[in-house]
Amino acid sequence: MTAVTQDFIQSLPKAELHVHLEGTLEPEHIFSLAARNGIELEYDNPEDVVAAYDFHDLPSFLKIYYAAMDVLRTEEDFYDLAMHYFRRAAEQNVVYVEPFFDPQAHTSRGIPFDTVINGIHRAQNDAATELGVESNLILCFLRDMSAESAAEHLAMAEPHLDKLIGVGLDSDEKDNPPSKFADVFAHARSLGLKLTMHCDVNQKDIVEHIRECLELIEVDRIDHGINALESDDLCTEIARRGLGLTVCPVSNRFVVQNLTGDEIRAMLARGMKATINSDDPAYFRAYMNENLQVLADEAGFTRDELLTLTRNAFEVSWLSDARKGHYYEQLAKVGQA
Ligand code: ADE
Ligand code: ZN
Repeated sequence: MTAVTQDFIQSLPKAELHVHLEGTLEPEHIFSLAARNGIELEYDNPEDVVAAYDFHDLPSFLKIYYAAMDVLRTEEDFYDLAMHYFRRAAEQNVVYVEPFFDPQAHTSRGIPFDTVINGIHRAQNDAATELGVESNLILCFLRDMSAESAAEHLAMAEPHLDKLIGVGLDSDEKDNPPSKFADVFAHARSLGLKLTMHCDVNQKDIVEHIRECLELIEVDRIDHGINALESDDLCTEIARRGLGLTVCPVSNRFVVQNLTGDEIRAMLARGMKATINSDDPAYFRAYMNENLQVLADEAGFTRDELLTLTRNAFEVSWLSDARKGHYYEQLAKVGQA
């Protein structure tokens, strides 16, 4: 069998469908943004910040993730955050991205919605023209806040619909089921937005949450969704609908101590469109290529399996068929090499 080298992974044109822009905030940026905004940090250097990354489950991760965002204050800060991620994407030959952002984590600190979305949007335009990285933005609601707050933020987003492709749902899943947001998501759909939701790994009531995503919300994609494997009929339905699942192996290893290699293989075997993603790469210390490499090195994934996962990402993206065709052609050249 041909070895999966770093060069092979680099050569694949890739799509990333599950990356939180706030999760790309590197420790070095926390320091430079704090200095620019006159904020005093409780750490002396970026190494100390990394040393304090003590997460073992979703709530312990989210606590650190939200605290660090305090350094993001101005439109320029959000531009720089997103532009840094797009540069990393370009370096790794990630050519298409559907990134998430969490506006409520900023408006709750007094940062205007427009400041956030305008900074990110400007970076998306520059990434497309300067780096050749194409992207479409997804607004995530925080599921541990109220449905009313989500509805208010959807209203704030309405003047910016041209800057968004979809809405998502993230943050602490415990006792915050998809059904809590059924009305907001129905309204988002009526505005022409695509729908996705986190069904994080091994959460309380997770199989029921996946079922609600399919039967009540009728999502266009599922983020994570590994636990669907516990239900035969859910797997069959996900495969029948051709729904994408955005799996994040290194993130899973941090949060649930499982790289989920066996589960990813099981999904592929059942005809489910699994894809590989980085989730919060600054925190889990792994961007797209590192996620693919770890699957090859530690779970024995072959070139063909990585090609399938990469092709799936373009297939379940929310690109037009014409743009998908363009990327399939690029990918086929590598597949034949
Ligand atoms: N917000 C950022 N990363 C997240 C994750 N992995 N799950 C839920 N909410 C998140
Ligand atoms: Zn996520």
